[in-house]
Amino acid sequence: MTEAIVKELRKFLAPEFVFGPGARFLVGKYARKLGAHRVLLVSDPEVLAAGWAEEAKQLLEEEGLEVHPFLEVSPNPRDHQVMAGAEHYHATGSDFIVAVGGGSPMDCAKGIGIVAINGGHILDYEGVDRVPVPMPPLICIPTTGGTSADVSQFAIITNTAEKVKIAIVSKTTVPDLALIDPATLLTMDPYLTACTGMDALVHAIEAYVSNANAPITDLHALEAIRLVSTHLRASVAKPDDYVLRSYIMQASLQAGLAFSNASLGCVHAMAHSLGGYKDLPHGECNALLLPHVMDFNFPEAPERFRRIGEAMGLDLRGLGDGECRSRLIQQVLDLRRECRITGGLGDRGVRTDDVSHLAAKAIEDPCNATNPRPPTVGDLKAIFSEAL
Ligand SMILES: [Fe+2]
Repeated sequence: MTEAIVKELRKFLAPEFVFGPGARFLVGKYARKLGAHRVLLVSDPEVLAAGWAEEAKQLLEEEGLEVHPFLEVSPNPRDHQVMAGAEHYHATGSDFIVAVGGGSPMDCAKGIGIVAINGGHILDYEGVDRVPVPMPPLICIPTTGGTSADVSQFAIITNTAEKVKIAIVSKTTVPDLALIDPATLLTMDPYLTACTGMDALVHAIEAYVSNANAPITDLHALEAIRLVSTHLRASVAKPDDYVLRSYIMQASLQAGLAFSNASLGCVHAMAHSLGGYKDLPHGECNALLLPHVMDFNFPEAPERFRRIGEAMGLDLRGLGDGECRSRLIQQVLDLRRECRITGGLGDRGVRTDDVSHLAAKAIEDPCNATNPRPPTVGDLKAIFSEAL
C-alpha cells in the first residue's frame, strides 16, 4: 500500500465511547456521573417495541434520575419533531439527553439539544460550524449498525416545507458518550440490516476518497470497508448471530469515525435530496446511488478506488484502471443484490420528471464539497437518471 502523506493540518474528533457486550447497561451510571437530574429520553415507537428504550429508562431511574420520554420521532426526522422535542425539554425542566435508536432518534436528539440551548429554529443551523453554543450533555445508544450518529459531527433533519434533508455539521453535535452494544442489532430485521450496513459502507468509501481524507481516517475507512464486505451478507442471512452483528457494529463505528472527520461526498448529497423528497430509507437511497457515483468519481482517484476494491476482497493485481473500475462496481452491485436490495429508483416512485428537482436540491448539499470530483447540476442529473 502507498503511504499517505499529510500535506495539511488535520484534526480528529471523536466522543468517548464504550464498545462491547453490555455497554448499554452503563447509561444510568454515566448519566449520573455527568451531572444529570432530569433526562429527556429520545427514541421512537419501533425501538420502544424492541425494548431498548424501556431498558434505558429503568437503568436511569435506578440511579435516581427523573426520565421524560420523547417518542414522536419518525424515520427521516422532521423539523417540527425537533421543535416539539425542544419544547418538551424545557417544559419538563430537563438538563440532559439520552438518545436510544438508529439515526433518526439520534439526529432528532441532536437537533433538540441545539435548539434547546441556542433558541431559534432548527433550520437556522444548516451548514458547517453554525452552532455557536454546545448542546446539553448527550449520551447515545445506537440500535442500528450504520448511521454512526453516535460518534459523528453530523445531524440530518428533514425540512418539511422544502421536502429536503438538511445537514448540520458541527463539533458541538458530537455526543459526550456513545454506548455501543452489538446486542442491540439483534432486533433489526434483514432489510434494515442491509440498508444500514450499506450506509456504513458508503460512509467508509466516501470518507476514503474525500478531499479531506487523512491517514487516521483512512485506517478506519479501509477496515470498515473490509468488515462490511466480509460480514454483511452473512449478517443479513443470520440475524441472530451475535458475532456477525459485532463485526457490523465495529464497521459502523469505524466508518463513523472516518466520515465524521473526512466528511462525505455526492452519494450523501444526492441521498439527502432523494430521502427528503420521497421519504425513503437513507441506507436504501445510498445503496441505489453508490455504484453510479463511484463510476463518476473513479477517474479522479483511481489508486484510492483500487485500494477500496482490495479491501472488498478483490484481487486487482496486474489489471488496468478500466478493468479495475468495472470489477469494483460489479462487486458493489453483487453485495447489494446479495443483501436483497434490488431494483432502482424508478421502483421507489421516482420519475424522470423528478430528476431536475432532485439534482437542484442535491447540488446545495455541503457533502459535495469533499467529493473528489466537483459535480455540476448536470452531472447530478445524469447520475440520478442512471439510477432510475
Ligand atoms: Fe449515511
